[in-house]
Amino acid sequence: STFDLIIKGGTIATASDVYTADIAIKDGKIVQIGTSLDGAEKVIDATGKYVLPGGIDSHVHISQPSGEGISMADDFETGTRSALFGGNTTVLPFCLQEKGTPLRQTLNAYHKLAEGNLYTDVSFHLIVSETNPTLLGQELPALAGEGYASFKVFMTYEGLRLNDAEILKTLDVARSTGSTVMIHCENEDAIRYLIEKHEAAGDVAPRAHASTRPAAVEREATHRALTLAEIADVPIVIVHVSNGQAMEEISRARARGLKVFGETCPQYLMLTAEDLDGMDWEGAKFVCSPPPRDKAAQEECWRGIETGVFDLFSSDHCPFKYDDERGKKFPKGKESFRHIPNGIPGVETRMPILFSEGVMKGRIDLSRFVALTSTNHAKTYGLYPQKGTISIGSDADIAIWDPSVKRTIRHAELHDGADYSPYEGIEVTGWPTTVILRGSVMVSDGELVGKKGDGQYQTARTRTPNSL
Ligand code: URP
Ligand code: ZN
Ligand code: ZN
Ligand code: ZN
Repeated sequence: STFDLIIKGGTIATASDVYTADIAIKDGKIVQIGTSLDGAEKVIDATGKYVLPGGIDSHVHISQPSGEGISMADDFETGTRSALFGGNTTVLPFCLQEKGTPLRQTLNAYHKLAEGNLYTDVSFHLIVSETNPTLLGQELPALAGEGYASFKVFMTYEGLRLNDAEILKTLDVARSTGSTVMIHCENEDAIRYLIEKHEAAGDVAPRAHASTRPAAVEREATHRALTLAEIADVPIVIVHVSNGQAMEEISRARARGLKVFGETCPQYLMLTAEDLDGMDWEGAKFVCSPPPRDKAAQEECWRGIETGVFDLFSSDHCPFKYDDERGKKFPKGKESFRHIPNGIPGVETRMPILFSEGVMKGRIDLSRFVALTSTNHAKTYGLYPQKGTISIGSDADIAIWDPSVKRTIRHAELHDGADYSPYEGIEVTGWPTTVILRGSVMVSDGELVGKKGDGQYQTARTRTPNSL
């Protein structure tokens, strides 16, 4: 037949349009969009459904070493399987460089972990944790030219944080290579000071994690990161923004002419610091950085989603087991919040939560949903228009959403390797029931039909470099 697959009669949404049409797919690509298309080996009837670009989650952590004796609950198999069931066709995990290790060696190690295990496509970000001249002068520029065009730097976490001078040097490399820098903005010295005070007072329960990382710590670091980007004259992404104070810094920087992308995550819409209270260390399940704040901050983040302060809605999926005999999220013998690994799972629930709370409740329209969960990720990280849209010539990465599905989030029904969901019990309307990766049906009416290894690595393009 002329086509491999036709998706018939669905309501197609891109970041700019919503319309009803058929989509014809051949050799993994979208080759026609029109009405009354036929001549395919296989037809999927999408009448009454939404046909959206596959989700792209540009902020996930998979198989990332997380401190002595602590391992992540997801490897590339379970992490991408979970992503797939949540409507994603591409995820962007981080490759954490261990100090003293060449970046290429780091990348090879992650490629080896990913190889043959992927249910979605992936593209990597690097985490830069040191700034020696070889790394900045040779390694990063060479890799940028080979399709590794984004990296994250941290202003917090001992052993990972860069100081301002190091961040400036790193931003210089981003400017000259056209790479995209993601910055984790929290003031480490202020956090250390608060941790020592709380521990000295015997305040060691999970809730103290939030108390020692207040909004001011995030606001100051966000302001500083934006100032450094202004001085280095380069676009940056402020990741996982948790509240209105940091959002104001982004808006102010934009008003000064800076190119800055803002990211927020489901935890800042759905959770509060009160979730870190709880019996038997239960609050550890919600420990992530920045911490979830309060109801007012949730509303501020919603405003940012509606008004465009945020370009990206990512999960920051960073899964750890809560119940583990070796004591992971509850580190035995180390009963202080300080030892709880930072991060919570959420790659599978990211889109259903935003669809239900955002689209179905009328806060955002379908096109804004697509932009926030797919298109803008592809544009920001050099994958567009191969990824992130439904158009002729693009990869046939498609999620078919049934807006009539009502579902209560239960970890038992999710597909990640953690043992809990921070969103347990939340009721959502709408779920991606069929997911197609480069023309292959991976999930069909909620059933896994794709194979481990069907996902592929995708190289990214850099921005136009600015060689000041
Ligand atoms: O707590 C978090 N967010 N853990 C993941 C690592 C990071 O900083 O994104
Ligand atoms: Zn971070
Ligand atoms: Zn306290
Ligand atoms: Zn993260």
